[in-house]
Amino acid sequence: MLDVQGLSGGYGGIDVLHDVSISVEAGETVTILGANTAGKSSLMRAISGLLPRVSGRITFIGADLSAQAAHDIPGLGIAHVPEGRHVFKEMSVEQNLMCGAYCARDRGDARARLDVVFDLFPRLMERRKQAAGSMSGGEQQMVAIGRAMMSDPSLILMDEPSLGLAPIVVDSVHEAMGRINALGVAILLVEQNAVMALSVARRGYVLESGRLVLSGDAAALRDDPGVKRAYLGV
Ligand SMILES: Nc1ncnc2c1ncn2[C@@H]1O[C@H](COP(=O)(O)OP(=O)(O)OP(=O)(O)O)[C@@H](O)[C@H]1O
Ligand SMILES: [Mg+2]
Repeated sequence: MLDVQGLSGGYGGIDVLHDVSISVEAGETVTILGANTAGKSSLMRAISGLLPRVSGRITFIGADLSAQAAHDIPGLGIAHVPEGRHVFKEMSVEQNLMCGAYCARDRGDARARLDVVFDLFPRLMERRKQAAGSMSGGEQQMVAIGRAMMSDPSLILMDEPSLGLAPIVVDSVHEAMGRINALGVAILLVEQNAVMALSVARRGYVLESGRLVLSGDAAALRDDPGVKRAYLGV
C-alpha cells in the first residue's frame, strides 16, 4: 500500500535521510526503531509531505505522493499523529476532532466518524466540550489519535504516541492501537519504547543516522543481538 523507495532528504542543505526504502501492506502494523535523531520523525514527515526537501519515490495505493501538497495527503488516506501530539489547546475536544475531518476523503461523513472515535475512546465523548489543553497527557494523546481517525485513513503514522505517558496510560494507548488496526487501518509506528513497538508490530525497520540498517519480522528483531543491546536493554 505504501512504498518508499530510495528516499533521501532533509532540512536546508543537510540530508538527514539517506536512501531509505520501506513498505507497509494494507492492514499491517510496522514499526521504525531508532535512537534519538536517527531520522524517524523526518521519515514520517517526508511521507506526509512535510519534509522541506526529498528525493526518491513515495507511492501510496499507486499514487505518487511526491507530486502532492501536504494538505492533500490526508485526502488520499494517510493521517499523521505527530510527535508531541499538537492538539489545539484552546479548542474543545470535539472541535479538535472535527479539524481532522477537514481534509477527509468524504467530509460529509464527519458525524458518523465522530461516533467511531467516541467508540474507540469513550473518555473523549465524556469530555467532548472540555478544552483539549486542560486534559491529561494521555487524554491529549487520545485526542491526537482520534483527530487522525476522523479523516477515515487507510494508514496512520504514529510518532511516539506513548512518549511521556504513565505506564498504565501507555497500556491503554497500546490497546487502542490494536482496536484501530482491527478496523483495518494500517499503522506505521515510531516508538522509543521498543519493547512495546515490537509487541504490537508485525514487522520493523531499524534506522541509524538516517540509514536503514536492519529489517525483519518483529520476532526476529526481538532476538537480534544488536537490537537487544541498543533498544531492548538486555
Ligand atoms: N526542523 C528542522 N530543521 C533542521 N534540522 C532538523 C529539523 N528537525 C529535525 N532536524 C534534524 O534532523 C535529524 C533527524 O531528526 P528527527 O527529528 O527526524 O529524528 P528522530 O529519530 O525523530 O529523533 P527523536 O527520537 O528525538 O524524536 C536530527 O539531526 C535533527 O537535528
Ligand atoms: Mg522524533
